Amino acid sequence: MCGIMGYLGEKPAAKVIIEGLKKHEYRGYDSAGLTVLDNGIFKKARAVGRVTNLEELVSRGDFAGTVGIGHTRWATHGGVTVENAHPHESSDGRVILVHNGIIENSRVVKEELQRLGIEFFTDTDTESAAQYLGYIYDGDPKSAIEKLVARIRGAFALVIMFRDRPDEIWVARKGSPLVLAHGVGETACASDPVALLSYSRAMFFMEDDEFACLTRDGITFYTFEGREIHHRPTFLDWDSSVADRGAYPHFMLKEIHEQPEVVIKTIGQRIKDSKIDLSNEIPWTAEQIKKFKKVHFVACGTSYYATLASSLLWESIGKFEIRPEVASEYRYRDIPIDKETLAIFVSQSGETADTLHAARKAKAAGATCLLITNVKGSTIDRELGLSLITQAGPEIAVAATKTFTAQLMILNLLGLYLAKLKGTLSAEQEKLFADELSQIPAKISVVLSTEKQIEKIANTYADKKGFLFIGRGFAYPSTLEGALKLKEISYMHAESYPAGEMKHGPIALLDDNLPVVAMVPKDNMWEKTVSNIEESLARRSPVIAVATEGDVSISNYTSNIIYLPATLPELYTLIAVIPLQLFAYYVARFKGCDIDKPRNLAKSVTVE
Ligand code: M6R
Repeated sequence: MCGIMGYLGEKPAAKVIIEGLKKHEYRGYDSAGLTVLDNGIFKKARAVGRVTNLEELVSRGDFAGTVGIGHTRWATHGGVTVENAHPHESSDGRVILVHNGIIENSRVVKEELQRLGIEFFTDTDTESAAQYLGYIYDGDPKSAIEKLVARIRGAFALVIMFRDRPDEIWVARKGSPLVLAHGVGETACASDPVALLSYSRAMFFMEDDEFACLTRDGITFYTFEGREIHHRPTFLDWDSSVADRGAYPHFMLKEIHEQPEVVIKTIGQRIKDSKIDLSNEIPWTAEQIKKFKKVHFVACGTSYYATLASSLLWESIGKFEIRPEVASEYRYRDIPIDKETLAIFVSQSGETADTLHAARKAKAAGATCLLITNVKGSTIDRELGLSLITQAGPEIAVAATKTFTAQLMILNLLGLYLAKLKGTLSAEQEKLFADELSQIPAKISVVLSTEKQIEKIANTYADKKGFLFIGRGFAYPSTLEGALKLKEISYMHAESYPAGEMKHGPIALLDDNLPVVAMVPKDNMWEKTVSNIEESLARRSPVIAVATEGDVSISNYTSNIIYLPATLPELYTLIAVIPLQLFAYYVARFKGCDIDKPRNLAKSVTVE
């Protein structure tokens, strides 16, 4: 998705903007550009490819100026060319802007302006906003923006400079994220708060249908109708060093290794003296909880797999009727939702368009709604008003790892807490789970210590045509996430199946070029999964077994064994996902892939 950075202060704006754009790179993009306003001149640089190409260009020119805007573009309207890269300027050169989102009526606006004799230079939807603004601007930015937002339709975060207003940046938002921060004598805006951490921890998350004027002294907010309003900042307790790769070659590897600490933070005060207590965060009484006749889990991608993994605990311990749903389906299907529905949305970014629309739908239908997110102040957080925040810190790699374990941990804690209030979790069970959950960080560390061995197995099979992941019961959801991780970063085909489904189709794929990754914990399904391993070996598929520590008999079937510490079946995925993340990472590294920024993917999917 596009990324935006704007700056107004005392520092050289071009440098600040390039640093800010680098913090947005993980979102996925194909070109980048910036403009600084210096002595009444818009100095513009744009480049296809990486932000470093833009940086190179800027280093060769004169880009003095302490106010500017920048953008990383993820092409939607118009090809990946320098001309289509942002910022876009009005023909008369008085207005320039960057945009994240899609202007749905851009064609109509463009044709209207062309009939008035205005020449267009790009294939983008964004240029229609720049040209329209240039056409109506009469020296009063506020009234021009009111007219602009009334004229364009769709989703947008716009950051605008007017040539005759060198000490102001104007921003407007409808549907696409934009965050503002004000430091001493400087003000900045960005798509991602991580890019603003060096200015302030006090962030202003723009609301829909609002615009604002940024100066070096502060920010003034307005509704789209032009009424001035006041906002309180949201304080983010993120450490700016978290957005640093340190000695790790990739953010993904760093984030995989952060998981023990992240899980400790996510547990935080939620477990104390072997008791699970979320009463400070969850307002529902035992009576209310008993009235929830159905529970919907709604999310996309990895977040959806976290809900699938936890749904098994919710149904077995909480005795809830659970319905995990992909948000892009949930928002359009005719699913019965009512006052007896508890709808839980999971989104690390809190900005995913499908999850946001699904949440709006459930809220409007009267469901009790809750969000699990890593970003306090994000759009879904603000709209639902009730969130459990994971303590994963910013996740930079496109492939989600630490946010998955944090989401899963919090979903499990919530499921157990509600089960306790509902009366389906006994005091002994609560102690058993609380103690085991507290052991999870140490057990993850044990798995991380087997990294070298996982790397060796990954390197052995990285040149195969693909992988089949299998598991049963509590061991099944981890296979979905394992296959997704591999697809995302290594571009290899990977499928995940409940092991019992092998004979119903996927077995036809098996040969010596398709290794099988079998999750085979020492539980009541062990023998059945081992039968599936035998079926795979009989068809010459190499087998990689993820087994439980102490399970020596698994070595009768394969020498590719990754051992995991034993845990409760309901908590299996919290540990089992770790070797699968590492496996995907090392396969991708062996293949020389761009691990942190895989092709075609965006970290935060803010359009449908
Ligand atoms: O921010 P969200 O959790 O809502 O994002 C959902 C998915 O887009 C995300 O999990 C995606 O699947 C990741 N690339 C997974 O690694």
